[in-house]
Amino acid sequence: MPTLAVYPGSFDPLTNGHVDIITRGARLFDRIIVAVLINEEKKPLFSMAERVEIAREVFRHVPNVEVDTFDGLLVDYVEKRQAQVIVRGLRAVSDFEFEFQMALMNQRLNGRIETIFLMPAEQYTYTSSRLIKEVFRLGGRVHGLVPEMVEERLRGKITTRTSA
Ligand code: PNS
Repeated sequence: MPTLAVYPGSFDPLTNGHVDIITRGARLFDRIIVAVLINEEKKPLFSMAERVEIAREVFRHVPNVEVDTFDGLLVDYVEKRQAQVIVRGLRAVSDFEFEFQMALMNQRLNGRIETIFLMPAEQYTYTSSRLIKEVFRLGGRVHGLVPEMVEERLRGKITTRTSA
C-alpha cells in the first residue's frame, strides 16, 4: 500500500524551511500533500489562493508533491484523503511542547494516524513565517530564507501597503 503523508500548515508565507521539510517528505513517502489551512480569522498576509499558487509553483517539477487546502479538524482531512501520516517540522526544543501536544491530541482523535517529525537543514532552524514577515517589513534581508517568488510578492505587498 502506498504511504501518503499530509504536511499541514498556514504557510503564510512558504519559507525555505518548509520547502526543505517537503523535499525530505517527498523522498520518504510515496506522496506528500501540502495542506494549507483555511484560516480566515488569522488575517493572513498572503491570500489562500496565493499560498496555494506559490507552493504549486515551487514544487511544479516534483510529481509526488500535491498542494491542497483544508479546514476543520486535521485528522478528518487526513482520513478523508486516506493518508496514514502527518508530517511536522521540528526546528528547536521550543517547538517541541506545542508539537507534542498536537501530536498526542491528534493521536487521541484518530489512533490510526501517526505524526512524524522531520528536522530541517541547520540553516533553517531559526526561520519562521512570522519572523520573515517582520524582518522584511522592517527593511531586513530575507534573501535565501524564502523562495524567490515569495520575496518578489513580499516586495509587492510592502510597497502596496506603504504607498496606500
Ligand atoms: O503552520 P502552523 O500554523 O503551525 O500549522 C498549525 C496547524 C495547521 C497544523 C494546526 O493549527 C491544525 O492542525 N489546525 C487544524 C485544526 C485542528 O485539527 N486542530 C487540532 C489540532 S490538535
